[in-house]
Amino acid sequence: METNYNTDLFNSIIQNRHSVFPNQFIKGKAVPDEIIWQILENANRAPNHKHTEPWRFTVFSGDGLQHFSKLQLKIYTQYAGEKFKEAKLKNLVEYPLMSSHVIAIGMKRNEEQKLPEIEEIIATACAIENMYLTLTAYGIGGYLSTGGITYFEEAKAYFDLGSDDRLIGFFYIGYIANPTNSLTKRQPIQEKVKWVMK
Ligand SMILES: Cc1cc2nc3c(=O)[nH]c(=O)nc-3n(C[C@H](O)[C@H](O)[C@H](O)COP(=O)(O)O)c2cc1C
Repeated sequence: METNYNTDLFNSIIQNRHSVFPNQFIKGKAVPDEIIWQILENANRAPNHKHTEPWRFTVFSGDGLQHFSKLQLKIYTQYAGEKFKEAKLKNLVEYPLMSSHVIAIGMKRNEEQKLPEIEEIIATACAIENMYLTLTAYGIGGYLSTGGITYFEEAKAYFDLGSDDRLIGFFYIGYIANPTNSLTKRQPIQEKVKWVMK
């Protein structure tokens, strides 16, 4: 089927997507909220089984970043227990303050459609890739973190998530101080494909 899409452009956005970390951001330079909304709109287009749309977002910007930094400090200090690491806490406090926006990503279980949990997690992961690709198209940096408080049961309530829901991670977003084309390595796709022709 003929389309008007620019497939070279589309492929290059995917091929050039890479994670950019908060210490690579321009501190204090805010991404316009319209772009953040576009990122969220594109996340909302992700495929999902039975129309459950399980992704949920809490966006922190402006003074909200201070709030999020303090929240991570509080939750991590209170609940890390034996896993507590000073260096980890430092990043949890400082990374939000280096960012333009931080988006907490949740997966909310659907009450009626009791899908296998993995399907709701897959759908949310698809939403996350849409976010990554949108950032790439706009030349903005970001990465998904599943560190810190992500898997703390006690953290869920702060993001309007119940015990059956999941806190999936945190997307840190900011303008890139020194944009590069350096991509993380991938092993050839041929090593991961079995192709059956008859
Ligand atoms: C599910 C998931 C969880 C991740 N969690 C972290 C994390 O906690 N800390 C981190 O530094 N990077 C994290 N990342 C980003 C990866 O480090 C990054 O995607 C990987 O190094 C490949 O680099 P690329 O995104 O540039 O291709 C995560 C990525 C995914 C998909």
